[in-house]
Amino acid sequence: MSEQVTLTRDGEIAVVTVNNPPVNALGTAVRQGLVAAMEQIDADDAIKAAIIIGEGRTYPAGADIREFGKPPQPPALFEVCTRIEETTKPVIAAIHGTALGGGLEISLGAHYRIADPKGRVGLPEVLIGVMPGAGGTIRLPRIAGIGKALDIMVSGRQVGAPEALELGILDRLAETDLLDDAKTFARELIAEGAGPRKTSDRTEGLGTEEENATALQAARDGIVKKARGLYAPAKMVDSMEYSLSHSLHDASIFERDAFMSCLGTPQQQGLNHAFFAERASAKVPENGRAQPRPLNKIGVIGGGTMGAGITVAALNAGLEVTMVERNAEAIANGQKNVEKVYDRDVTKGRKTEAQKTAIMDRYTPSTNYTDLSDADLIIEAVFENMDVKREVFSTLDKVAKPGAVLASNTSYLNIDEIASATARPESVIGLHFFSPANIMRLLEIVIPTKAADDAIATGFALAKAMKKVPVRAGLCDGFIGNRILAKYMSAAAFMVEDGASPYAIDAALVKFGYPMGIHAMGDLAGLDIGWSNRKNNAAKRNNQDRYNGTIADRICENGWFGQKTGKGWYVYAEGDRRGTPNPDIDAIIASARADLGITPRDFSEEEVIRRYLAAMVNEGARVLEEGIALKPSDIDVTFLFGYGFPRYRGGPMKYADMYGLDNLLTDLREFEKEDPRFWKPAQLLIDMVERGESFDDLNKRAMA
Ligand code: COA
Repeated sequence: MSEQVTLTRDGEIAVVTVNNPPVNALGTAVRQGLVAAMEQIDADDAIKAAIIIGEGRTYPAGADIREFGKPPQPPALFEVCTRIEETTKPVIAAIHGTALGGGLEISLGAHYRIADPKGRVGLPEVLIGVMPGAGGTIRLPRIAGIGKALDIMVSGRQVGAPEALELGILDRLAETDLLDDAKTFARELIAEGAGPRKTSDRTEGLGTEEENATALQAARDGIVKKARGLYAPAKMVDSMEYSLSHSLHDASIFERDAFMSCLGTPQQQGLNHAFFAERASAKVPENGRAQPRPLNKIGVIGGGTMGAGITVAALNAGLEVTMVERNAEAIANGQKNVEKVYDRDVTKGRKTEAQKTAIMDRYTPSTNYTDLSDADLIIEAVFENMDVKREVFSTLDKVAKPGAVLASNTSYLNIDEIASATARPESVIGLHFFSPANIMRLLEIVIPTKAADDAIATGFALAKAMKKVPVRAGLCDGFIGNRILAKYMSAAAFMVEDGASPYAIDAALVKFGYPMGIHAMGDLAGLDIGWSNRKNNAAKRNNQDRYNGTIADRICENGWFGQKTGKGWYVYAEGDRRGTPNPDIDAIIASARADLGITPRDFSEEEVIRRYLAAMVNEGARVLEEGIALKPSDIDVTFLFGYGFPRYRGGPMKYADMYGLDNLLTDLREFEKEDPRFWKPAQLLIDMVERGESFDDLNKRAMA
């Protein structure tokens, strides 16, 4: 066996325990250990049944992703699953935590399954760009049916134990202690003389040949919609289809080949990067140096869309929230905005009325700042104006208890200046939520000059409690996300002025993998926001810089602000959120081009993407150069979780690595000829190309 797999005995029952912290990933030693355990179980006549269980927090949560791309070491996981299935005594998988990917596959190799009621199972390989490679596509449909099995694999979702029981994936739920109940199960099987029950021989999930064919076709049609652009899902259907008419051995080889064909694809590299980037973003120096301050009671100033969204996120995290607004009417509205979210949950059957009431019990509406005197952390989400924010912070300074963290949700303003309105700048940080704040997972944690480590660590603790993805951002105009966004929005605006159609740009972006194009996004967010920013910044603008608002200003001058006015770049019929191109836009663009003296030219789809990404990555490099972001993968995380960048491309910096930084620099040099100010390559990029470095090298250095 191995150190990571032990076999102990309780009478006639062998207990095989996997111990490979933190998640019992099925690395080489675990795979070898499991095979050795099955050999021993078969060889020992005194053993009548066996249990496989995970030590610590979970049943094996999957193959060891860190082994992907390295030379495979025997035994392959599919061989382990088959070996378990071939064991001559009944084998029970006893599941707690998350039996994901290979973890579920080894339990499907086992003959029976019992789980802790809070346990979850799933085949999330799709999320890292691969597919089940150890019998998942073969065994799961035989129990759960083709449609359900594909739903689980294509979505990658985690299935709670009660649902898994209903689907037949589990035989029973534990009622007391998982191991004790698994032993009881084993004793019952021994008493009944029940032998091994091979999942690969079962058929109750399957229908007639015709029904199976229909289910597979429906899956193929559905994939186009659900898993747009992804490579692995179609391979899963192929593999499942093949397994229906072939032996376990042949189907395993077919599945393994399909799995291997996913490995090393750009998608798999992108998704794999995204997985680790997401986990690396919370690894910041402050978390190593300080413990978070206590965090139970939260204050939120403002009950608008943002304040209410933050409140819901905090309530969902189990925190107590006091929301403060200016007056009775405003706070009533704030409360309504919060309740609306839960009412929708109730209507949709996601929550019961009682659950809503229990959550709302932790919510206190108030018009009095002194009600925040016992809050551990207070988040301000008021109007984006320096004077207003300073006034709020000066008041908070008077009422908040010593040690309370005071946070601003500003998206652009200088937080040092906000902090200076208090006598405790060490307790002031930025918490930049994205709208809708209860849904969007990104949280930029902005670090003003004087912020203390433990105040920053508290911001990260809040993100964790809210299940958000935190990114540490230094202080600058727009922090990481909006600063870079401004650059590629300009690149898009210039392309439109120079001849590209906004709709062609949007189509190119959707084809690239974005859920929507930048102009559709502008319509959704409200074109008036950018318009007002441009007006506010007019005095600061350097007139040597090319102006990016000529066309957008003219659209706004018509009172067309996007979805909220029914018209923007697109027109929106009542209830239509996708919109169709606004027929008046062409004339606006034509008049702007004429006024600017531009003779329009064509832009290919490829050039649109090259310019968009070059602008994005070049600014990303500046953000790194200035230390605003600690590492390239933090920029990736920002764009994946806050700006719709397609996850399977890994994020802009990962994309740039795969595109080649030398190629990117060549693009910038080419564009620089037409506008040297806008397209000036970042020095960091020039240096990196000279040194032959990639952004991944910087990631590794930052994490070392
Ligand atoms: N292989 C290797 N390492 C893994 C891993 C895997 N399958 N799953 C998790 N880890 C590592 C994480 O990178 C993290 O490492 P770190 O502490 O150095 O950052 C650590 O285990 C803990 O994971 P984390 O995600 O932070 O813990 P969690 O409790 O929030 O979530 C899981 C646990 C298992 C739900 C989550 O890690 C997950 O979804 N893992 C991937 C599962 C998967 O895709 N399996 C199929 C692979 S074929």
